Amino acid sequence: MSGRHVRGKVIARLKRLFYAAALVSLGGAVFSLAAVSKPAARHHTAPSKEKQATAMFRHGRSIFRNDTFGDEAFWGGTLQLHKAIEGAKNGGVGGGVSPKTALAVGLKVDVTRLPKAVKKALAAGKVNLDDPATTLALLKLDAVVGLKGRFTQNGKQLKSVGITCAICHSTVNNSFAPGIGKRLDGWPNRDLNVGAIIGLSPNLQPVADVLGADVDTVKKVLASWGPGKFDAELFMDGKAFRPDGKTGATLIPPAYGLAGVNLHTFEGWGSVPYWNAFVAILEMHGQGNFTDARLDNAAKFPVAARNHFGHVRTTHDRVTRKLPALHFYQMALHAPRPPSGSFDAKKAALGKKLFEGKATCASCHVKPTFTDPGWNMHAPQEICTDSFQADRGPDGLYRTTPLRGVWAHGKGGYYHDGRYPTLGAVVEHYNSCFNLNLSAGEQSDIVEYLKSL
Ligand code: HEC
Ligand code: HEC
Repeated sequence: MSGRHVRGKVIARLKRLFYAAALVSLGGAVFSLAAVSKPAARHHTAPSKEKQATAMFRHGRSIFRNDTFGDEAFWGGTLQLHKAIEGAKNGGVGGGVSPKTALAVGLKVDVTRLPKAVKKALAAGKVNLDDPATTLALLKLDAVVGLKGRFTQNGKQLKSVGITCAICHSTVNNSFAPGIGKRLDGWPNRDLNVGAIIGLSPNLQPVADVLGADVDTVKKVLASWGPGKFDAELFMDGKAFRPDGKTGATLIPPAYGLAGVNLHTFEGWGSVPYWNAFVAILEMHGQGNFTDARLDNAAKFPVAARNHFGHVRTTHDRVTRKLPALHFYQMALHAPRPPSGSFDAKKAALGKKLFEGKATCASCHVKPTFTDPGWNMHAPQEICTDSFQADRGPDGLYRTTPLRGVWAHGKGGYYHDGRYPTLGAVVEHYNSCFNLNLSAGEQSDIVEYLKSL
């Protein structure tokens, strides 16, 4: 703030000097007066497009990181999650959530929110990481990425919690310690065990009611997700498990590298602003209006149809007016570039030729987004895969995954459910699916190329 103030003063002074010089050098010609006063006048009436864009970017970033859309009513009010976090000793229930537990379930700490003294104490091992009171202190500092603590006015008691987009779609760079560092917006948090976190709730009955199941079943389902996964479709179709008995949850995808991409999510539910509204209202339980008549299809989406999720109306909409800036910020989240030395450039160059040629990858994954330009959806059999997850979406298809920055989210595997543990396994799959007859060397060239995107 003060820095900006000083800079403003300096600029004002420079401007005055410039005006004076202009006047002197041109002998006070009327022409020069007009020339210098014009930009100043414009500045007062309308900010430049660049300034507007910057303001929108910042607004969107703040929504992405900080906005709960009023979802405290659900996470605190309904699930009573704050009580499980504080523990009986601090006025809640049970043992509470220590920082160690919080980090173990994948929550991240934003080091820029920690005062110097706290960082020193942490580095010296003088902070009790087994005490839920420390977690409360971190929440009070607003240092837990994507998890917002709401305290009583005297700051003594945690009265509710809410979540933001950042809890799933941000991680940290571990610059201070594992799980503690600077924010990496858009990177999927593949350590986050959403099921374990929701499972801490002392009151899962409302979730059971929505799904039409009992609490024990809900607990089993939540425990089946594991780290880096969430099941967005569960609350539409109630299908918790695949036919093979494995979880129906999908990986949390990156929220970067999406500019220029037509349809979003693994199942291609819609555009980014469509999905943002979907998630903010139907998954995070923020307060807002949402419309999608496709969810009235009771055969396909029995839970959604029964609960009228396609026609949500509230008196106080805290989502809709934020969608433009949130969208704008997401479009600005470029995929991260791979670190130098993280791939073999020579092999990557050979891999690129194969990707665009013999291996036919570029018939779907097209530069620069690496999804299809236009309608980016494909039938499961086109990529020799099962239709379970595709059928949980509106059209029974899979969206071609945009591959920029694929190097940065290998944890949890590849494809929507992480079924391929390595990029090598993905390429091997395509090799047999498309009968490509690629040699082992050629396959590894393609892998090096994928690592370079
Ligand atoms: C609880 C974890 C969680 C939260 C919170 C969450 N998301 Fe997601 N997000 C997911 C998962 C899982 C998917 C994949 C869903 C699917 O394909 O069925 C996803 C998909 C997306 C996609 C599509 C990405 C692509 O590749 O096209 C975008 C964009 C997105 N989320 C943005 C957001 C925004 C913005 C918010 C906040 C309003 C948010 N998400 C909150 C877990 C989360
Ligand atoms: C017919 C269109 C099509 C072709 C051709 C194709 N892909 Fe894909 N690709 C997809 C779709 C659709 C997915 C999403 C599958 C899923 O998530 O279940 C995908 C997913 C991927 C992924 C996983 C990304 C992630 O983050 O999970 C990689 C890597 C990939 N493809 C690489 C390739 C390579 C390499 C080739 C060529 C050998 C190729 N693809 C050819 C459509 C295609």
